[in-house]
Amino acid sequence: MSDTLGQEMALAFAKMFKSSALNRLYAAKVKTEGNVLLSNLLYSISWSEKIRARRSLMYIRGKMGDPTEYLKRLLHIKQENVSITYPKISRLSIDAGKQKASEAFDQFSKVEKIHLTLLKEALKGSTDESTKYYVCQICGYISVDEIPPKCPVCNAVQEKFRMED
Ligand SMILES: [Fe+2]
Repeated sequence: MSDTLGQEMALAFAKMFKSSALNRLYAAKVKTEGNVLLSNLLYSISWSEKIRARRSLMYIRGKMGDPTEYLKRLLHIKQENVSITYPKISRLSIDAGKQKASEAFDQFSKVEKIHLTLLKEALKGSTDESTKYYVCQICGYISVDEIPPKCPVCNAVQEKFRMED
């Protein structure tokens, strides 16, 4: 972001997006506890926040800064996820007896490493515009130019891969 307004808009977007996701989760939780009214309201609030987040993106687009600086930050964040954030969450999950969560964050770490490699290759110019990216809908792994028989990260079948339009 190039200025304070852009930064504030980006922060508001992040908060709306996060709140929408959390409200959706809590809507499901209170539904299982039998509170249908509160569940419906939280789902509706979640949807409302998603709409506003999407709308706020239109204003953020006009306030975006230098893509080179953004990409440096993106690489840094992804590197931090690989080396610190995801391994820490994986360990904490093991300590809490949450094996599945630990495995998921181990997979996220592998996927982030691949994102780093793909970003670096694209920034070096070693990939061209005809390159196709297929995304595993289970773990987020990105395959280049072909769909593998099975996802190398989570073993998902070919049908779980989609290409971004
Ligand atoms: Fe996968």
